[in-house]
Amino acid sequence: MPSKRKHPSTKQTAKTEQAGGPHASVGFKTEADAKTPPPEEEEEDFRVEPSCAVPRARNPIEPDYPGAYTMTSEDMIGTDSHLAYVSRWHRMREEERRGSVTFRVVTNDGSRPALVQLLGLKNVFVRQLPNMPRPYVVRLVFDRKHESVIMVKKLPSGEEVVMGGCCYRPFGEQGFAEIAFLAISHSEQVRGYGTRLMAHTKERAKALKLTHLLTCADNNAVAYFKKQGFSKIITLPPERWQGYIKDYEGIVLMECALNFKVDYLNIPPLLKAQKLCLLEKLREVSRSHIVYPGIDVKKMKGIRIEDIPGLRHVDLDKVPPPTAAHGTRSGVASAKPLTAAAAIARERDPVQLAALHKELQQILNQIKSHSSAWPFLEPVNPEETGAYNYYEIIKNPMDLRTIQERLDSGWYYVNRDIFLADLNRMVKNAIDYNGPGHYISELALSLQRFYSSKL
Ligand code: ACO
Repeated sequence: MPSKRKHPSTKQTAKTEQAGGPHASVGFKTEADAKTPPPEEEEEDFRVEPSCAVPRARNPIEPDYPGAYTMTSEDMIGTDSHLAYVSRWHRMREEERRGSVTFRVVTNDGSRPALVQLLGLKNVFVRQLPNMPRPYVVRLVFDRKHESVIMVKKLPSGEEVVMGGCCYRPFGEQGFAEIAFLAISHSEQVRGYGTRLMAHTKERAKALKLTHLLTCADNNAVAYFKKQGFSKIITLPPERWQGYIKDYEGIVLMECALNFKVDYLNIPPLLKAQKLCLLEKLREVSRSHIVYPGIDVKKMKGIRIEDIPGLRHVDLDKVPPPTAAHGTRSGVASAKPLTAAAAIARERDPVQLAALHKELQQILNQIKSHSSAWPFLEPVNPEETGAYNYYEIIKNPMDLRTIQERLDSGWYYVNRDIFLADLNRMVKNAIDYNGPGHYISELALSLQRFYSSKL
């Protein structure tokens, strides 16, 4: 179904509305009159109550270290209000509770209120789906076999305005409904109303005992429908829908199979229950819920992995070998700890490893004496270079001295790929920080061309 998603300027809007003809509202206000400022951000943090009681872990792993304690699953998740879908859901529910927004199922029963609301909805569709022939929209919206979930907003003056809706035809015997049109007024789009409208439509379909929603989605709206649980894969048997709905060119038939156990108007509590359930199960096999006391790094010269309380139980043989993204020039890397790489290095043929390291040392010597290498010989010193924010931007720093230290350790570079990854990390950091075209980035690329030919 053709449609146009746009964010026109005020001027364009006024023009479109004039062209739109009669007022689109229940209380004879235009959409523009009803435009409300974007909602204020939720100030208060809150937690969502799970939709059901969550079974607790049967045999959770208990803390076995002095000073360690366990976190509850609720505390591990923390507040939920920072999640966009949760804050939108919360805001929608509040608006509905206050009565400033209502969703109503309306059919053409000939009554004045129904006709006025359907007229408002028709006007929204005509504006938001400009490629749809107006008579066609009018025919379906007022068709008595169709019904619509209509979103109505109450203005501070008390007048009500139709801000969007979903018009569909339920096919009771076939157990599905075909969504004909769906739109939200442009001033209210991308604020979550489209999602809420679909949730109300799904709940209405459940009440009608329909198992599926089908729609011929405009290409522009496919992404929206996907986010609402629609798929291009049609699972409804063809005999239940073929011949009942029309096919258009340039549209994509999409389906949403409804799950009667899901309360579509309250997804966040359901997801919260699932998250808690998963965390409870994890307590039986993982120590992620145990908080260990910190270590006093000032009193230690280099930290061995086994000195970190929370890592005592890690089976190092199962940890993948480090890549350039792991480890920094911290005490952890230089104190020759027992790491996965060390474990791998121990298992390698010492003769082969020594030969590899000899070769890598020769290449490293050539890299260090290359004319483009000078900015990379030492770790970046923010004071000396004036790059005060360097370590705020570059989270995995790398330089030729660190690479030399890793090579000297005798266990770190168990293959060429790890060595190459460190060099590439160094080049990427230079470009990320300085930007393409900067002379330091150019030097980094020249060095990369040089070592690539050697490795
Ligand atoms: N393309 C890609 N993504 C979209 C689109 C789109 N056209 N519209 C919305 N989305 C995304 C939003 O970014 C949001 O993503 P997020 O949850 O990751 O943040 C999600 O879909 C839901 O957005 P909402 O704010 O809930 O939806 P909105 O209120 O904007 O309403 C609607 C969506 C109804 C498609 C609205 O944009 C509209 O009226 N568009 C014009 C009319 C139209 O195209 N209707 C569908 C035609 S097909 C048919 O009628 C059968």
